Formats: sequence, structure tokens, C-alpha cells
Amino acid sequence: MTDSLTVRDNRTGAEYDIPILDGTIKAADLGQIKVDAEQPGLAVYDPGFVNTASCRSSVTYIDGEKGILEYRGYPIEQLAENSSFLEVAYLLIHGALPTKAEYEAWEHEITFHTFVHENVKSFMQGFRYDAHPMGMLMASVGALSTFYPESGNIADADNRHIQIVRMIAKMPTLGAWAFRHAQGKPYVYPDNDLSYAENFLSMLFKMSEVTYEPDARIAKALDTLFILHADHEQNCSTNAVRSVGSSQVDPYSAVSAGIGALYGPLHGGANEAVLRMLRRIGNKSEIPAFIEGVKAGNERLMGFGHRVYKNYDPRAKIIKKACDDVFEVTGVNPLLEVAQELEKIALEDEYFVKRKLYPNVDFYSGLIYEALQFPPEMFTVLFAIGRTPGWLAQWLELVQDKEQKIARPKQIYTGERTLDFVPREERWA
Ligand code: CMC
Repeated sequence: MTDSLTVRDNRTGAEYDIPILDGTIKAADLGQIKVDAEQPGLAVYDPGFVNTASCRSSVTYIDGEKGILEYRGYPIEQLAENSSFLEVAYLLIHGALPTKAEYEAWEHEITFHTFVHENVKSFMQGFRYDAHPMGMLMASVGALSTFYPESGNIADADNRHIQIVRMIAKMPTLGAWAFRHAQGKPYVYPDNDLSYAENFLSMLFKMSEVTYEPDARIAKALDTLFILHADHEQNCSTNAVRSVGSSQVDPYSAVSAGIGALYGPLHGGANEAVLRMLRRIGNKSEIPAFIEGVKAGNERLMGFGHRVYKNYDPRAKIIKKACDDVFEVTGVNPLLEVAQELEKIALEDEYFVKRKLYPNVDFYSGLIYEALQFPPEMFTVLFAIGRTPGWLAQWLELVQDKEQKIARPKQIYTGERTLDFVPREERWA
């Protein structure tokens, strides 16, 4: 057995041997397959990259059929149970779990970069009262590149490190301020005596008290949610970060592009869409009619289905458990009953079974977020805060990968050719 693929081009009868490496062929190797020397070589047509590997990566492993998710080889279940978000962030960025000294230095670094330049505050205050917080986050993260112009020096390892620290540290500050903005409340400065999740809660909810004291169970649940969202290999937003990053722009601009991708309802915006859907359904008796509408193609069952998972999303299982912990503090979200019944009916329905559509990470997360008093527009911001270390780990890998090039897909041109320009006088006559 040889690790190659023999391709016979039936247009010409020619045969080609294409090497197979790591279960892939190089798309560029197909370029030699031509009808004649003048024609372009054979290319791959793959909208949405459904069967195209764009990089080698050692950050995150997913087996969608079996429902496995691992960061740097560690199962998500163990990380969610035993680790903290900052430790997971370290793991993603550095590739290994930290020693005590490494962890303490990392925690100190992140904690002492939570403040943003005061001008960022006035910049954010310029948004309309009803600005979507994801739009505010995307713009303010992009704007950070102007506060740290040296961030464009991506070849320097120390420089890369400090920008990574800054971004992980400042994301909760920007997210919390976007939240306060919509409520017309004063922005709260970071409290560096608090943990990452506690400080975020403080910036969200603190009013006149000297020190905000968050419920430890809520802080823990939030920290777990951040861990669950920390990376997910080559998804739409990570691909956006890598694609924009491949131009060698600074990491703030690349992550800002990732935030834009995450904003969309088919990606991070799905948790917001789930909650709106559950509210619309309202009670269990309406579920059968809703499911019929989904099967008729009128709309999608949001929070269900995944490009990679053809099994229960392992993150959804952990979130279901976190729901219990949070509802113990906040009281049960009445929409939980609707969600559970919807899940039960869908998992027994032939339409969903046949297509292997299971609940994904977004199906239950919105219920927790709502119980924590977040409006739906904030849900994706929480996702973005959690995903930041993953984006940055992927960006770091990209900029150090000698095989990477500027992202530049091919197209199949379907338009007109060589038309003669018709002057306005003739066209408008
Ligand atoms: N409800 C109803 N039908 C669905 C759904 C759904 N949620 N998802 C997929 N399908 C159907 C789809 O209509 C198609 O049916 P058919 O073969 O008859 O045309 C089949 O299942 C395959 O769907 P697809 O659109 O080809 O699958 P995809 O891999 O391109 O899409 C997805 C993946 C996540 C965009 C999609 O499942 C979806 O739109 N889900 C709802 C939105 C959602 O929950 N997104 C969050 C994803 S997890 C968080 C993240 O990582 O961003």
C-alpha cells in the first residue's frame, strides 16, 4: 500500500499520482491536472470549507461523531470540572498546563492589564444608547490597535505576548462597558483584587457598594462557561481571525474580524436566537406546531445541529449541569421546561434523528445567561470573552507556521467577459 492517490483524468486519459499526507492531498497538487497547457489546472470547489483543511493545528481536537472535544489533548469535561478559565487560557496559548509559578505570573499579568486607556471610554460613550454590544465590542477591540501601534510588529515574540495578555485582560472590561452603556449606567473600573469572572461580574453589576461581592456559585458557573467556549478549532470566527491575520495585520484587527464573524446568528449569535425562539414558543403546548414549521423548512431549530458534531455536543452536557447550579441561586428559568420538552421531542423525531441534529453549546447557555440578568444581546459578548484565548492561540500558531500564506481562495467565474463599454448617452437615451 502506498500513501498516494491515482487520478485518471477522463478528459485526456492522463493519470497522476498525488501524495497523501495526514489523510489529505495538497489542493495545489491538483493544479498539474490540465486539459492543455493553456488552461488553468484542476481546482477544488468547496464553499464553506466543508472538506478542506486550511492549516495544521495542535490547539484543539474534535471528534464530531463521538462527541469528543479536547484542548491541547485534555478532555473538556476534565478541564471544566477541575480547572479555571485563566489556567485554560494559559494552556491554549502556551500548549501546556502551567506550574504554580507560571500560573501566578500569568494571573498577575492578566489581572494588571484589565484597565483600558481613558480615551477608550469616551470612544465607547459615543455609541447610540441602543447600540448592540457586539458591534461595540468589535469596534473597540479593533480600536485598541491604535492605542498599541507596536502590536503590528508580529514577528517579535515578546510583543506578541504582551498583546495577547492585554486582549484577554481587557475583553471583560470592554464587554461590561458595552453592557452598562445600554443601561445608561456609569462604567465600572476593574477591581484587580477579584478573580477574572468576579471582576467581570463587578464591572457588570456593581453600583454604589465599595466592593462588589459576587455569589461564588455564579462566578464559578461563568468561569465554566468561558472554559467551554475557549476554543473550537477551525470554526467560522477562528477562520476569520486566521484569514485576516494571514495578511500579517496586528492581532487586535484580526480578533475584531473574529468578533464580527461570531456576531452572526448561525455562529455565536445562535444563543441569542435560541432565547428569542423559546420566548416565541412560550409554552409546551406550542411545541408540536413549531416543530412542524421547522420540518417544513420555515425556520431552523436554533441551538440544534452542528457542522462537526453529529452527536450530542459535549459542551451542551456540561452546560445542562451548570444550569442546575445557577438556578439554585437565581430560581429556575421558566423557559427551561420549554427547552427540555423541545429537546425531548426533537431527539425522538425522525427529521432530526436522520440528520443527526443534537443540541449544541448554544441550546442551554442562553437560559443561564438570562437567569444571570443578561439581555439576549449580551450573550454573544460572553461567548467572545470566552473565545478570546482560543482565537489568540490560533493566531499565534498561524503567525509562526512557515507553511501559511496569505488567505486567498480561488473562484469559479460565472460572469460576462469582454463586453464593450456603452457610453452613458447611448444607455440613457
Ligand atoms: N434546524 C432544522 N434543520 C436543520 C438545522 C436546524 N437547526 N440544522 C441543520 N438542519 C438541516 C438542514 O436543513 C439540512 O437539511 P437537508 O439536508 O434536508 O437540506 C441538514 O440539516 C444539514 O444542514 P446544513 O445546513 O447543511 O448543515 P451545516 O453543517 O452547514 O450547518 C449549522 C451547521 C450549525 C449552521 C446548522 O446546523 C444551523 O443552522 N443550526 C442552527 C444555528 C445554531 O444553533 N448555530 C450554533 C452552532 S454551535 C455554536 C458555534 O460553534 O458557533
